[in-house]
Amino acid sequence: MKLTGRFFLSHGGLVLFTLGAGFLLFYGGARFELKRQAEADQKQYLASFALAAREAVVQREDVAVLNFMRLASKNPAIVFTAFFNPTTRSRVVLPINYGKEPLLVPTLSAGGTGTKNIRLSDGTEVFLSVQKLNFGSGSSGWVEIGYSGLEIEKEIQNQLQRWLNLSLLTLSVTLILGWVVSWLVSRHLVDPLKKIREGTRLVRQGKLDSLVEVNRADEIGDLARDFNSMVLQLKELDEMKRDFVSGVTHDLGTPLHAIRSAANFLQEGKGGVLTDKQGEYLLMISNNTTHLIGFINNLLTVARIEAAKVDPYLEAVDVMTHLNDLVTLYQTQAHAKGLTLTLVKKAPYVSLISDVTMFRQIAQNLLSNAIKFTVTGSVELTVSEENGDMLLKVRDTGIGIDPQYHALIFDKFFRVKQPKEFQTREGSGLGLSIVKGLVSALGGTVEVESGLGQGSVFKVRLPKQPDPSRWYPAVSGGPV
Ligand SMILES: Nc1ncnc2c1ncn2[C@@H]1O[C@H](COP(=O)(O)OP(=O)(O)O)[C@@H](O)[C@H]1O
Ligand SMILES: [Mg+2]
Repeated sequence: MKLTGRFFLSHGGLVLFTLGAGFLLFYGGARFELKRQAEADQKQYLASFALAAREAVVQREDVAVLNFMRLASKNPAIVFTAFFNPTTRSRVVLPINYGKEPLLVPTLSAGGTGTKNIRLSDGTEVFLSVQKLNFGSGSSGWVEIGYSGLEIEKEIQNQLQRWLNLSLLTLSVTLILGWVVSWLVSRHLVDPLKKIREGTRLVRQGKLDSLVEVNRADEIGDLARDFNSMVLQLKELDEMKRDFVSGVTHDLGTPLHAIRSAANFLQEGKGGVLTDKQGEYLLMISNNTTHLIGFINNLLTVARIEAAKVDPYLEAVDVMTHLNDLVTLYQTQAHAKGLTLTLVKKAPYVSLISDVTMFRQIAQNLLSNAIKFTVTGSVELTVSEENGDMLLKVRDTGIGIDPQYHALIFDKFFRVKQPKEFQTREGSGLGLSIVKGLVSALGGTVEVESGLGQGSVFKVRLPKQPDPSRWYPAVSGGPV
């Protein structure tokens, strides 16, 4: 999972967990508190009722207490209110239809209060709250309020629902804010990491001039600085290696050419008549020298490609003639292995403006690989045109290449580790790196399609009319 995704999940999870846990605690607490508050309100209400009733008895004026009771009957939580006036010995119950109910006649001490749950004749559960009123003369009255437990519970639920809604709103806002913050934080972390990753990719392609720019004082900054110093070190090593290789190849090339010329002279009899044995040994010397010279030439080509010193000489290339030539050259070798080697022409006439030597070297390297890595079956060269490009396909029915190596085989010296029976095959791992370097110097591309044991197809695409702006596109040092 990407870092940004992880941040989103962990932030979201954290916010949900915190708010969820907080909410549960809060919900329990709030419920308890609301209940307590309701009870306190009930006591307060009863006290006010008692005060109004006392006034009514003392002043012989019951307007205030009746108003109080009428008002109370409008409160949905109150089922009824009752008042017993000891002076008139009258009992008032509002709403009047509750007058018949067997009310709780208080047996409380003077001024005492009491509570009780009862069920009315219509089935309503009521919670009674009673206060006794004492007037000096020994006569006592009382006030009584019947609360609906259901309504009180409903009110508490409503209140809780309002809080719940508010908490949900807070939750959503915090969640969104959390995500915005995590997005910002992850960008802050991920952006420089992406730069370093891109740098790694470029280094992998051999572009050792690409340092990453991360100006930070933290650990990521340290990583970027370490990365840069590693790239500089690599570049230094690469230059040393390049100088060494080109020096050595020059030093080796000259004496080898001299050896081959001398061997050729002797073979031509210019040093006197040779015995059969001498001729045989001379042939061995000459063949091995030719092989070494080929290898050194490859090394030199790679060095030239890396130094961006490949300078194509442009002219009209008769593609079919050159490919025919190569096919003839390799026919004996293919035949010896029992392979059929064919050249197929898909387009009527393929004209190409390119560099002949480079074109031949590209085709030859691919063709020799195809024959080398094929045990039975065929090798087929196809030429066609596609979107104004020349397309050369080299297809074989050989051992194939595991896709994990497709990006690596174009690196110099890279060779796929082969099973035992193929291990002794000749080669230095330079062929495909030269193909890639030359193709890109000619403004083209090369790709491979292959799977283990499924044969391979190498596709080279070259512009028929090279565009100067596409020239030397990828050859600026580093492996090709
Ligand atoms: N046609 C092919 N079929 C199978 N493997 C191939 C083919 N062409 C190239 N390869 C693999 O790619 C590697 C690199 O090729 P190349 O650079 O030409 O080196 P070399 O031919 O000297 O081994 C080869 O060693 C081989 O493992
Ligand atoms: Mg090769």
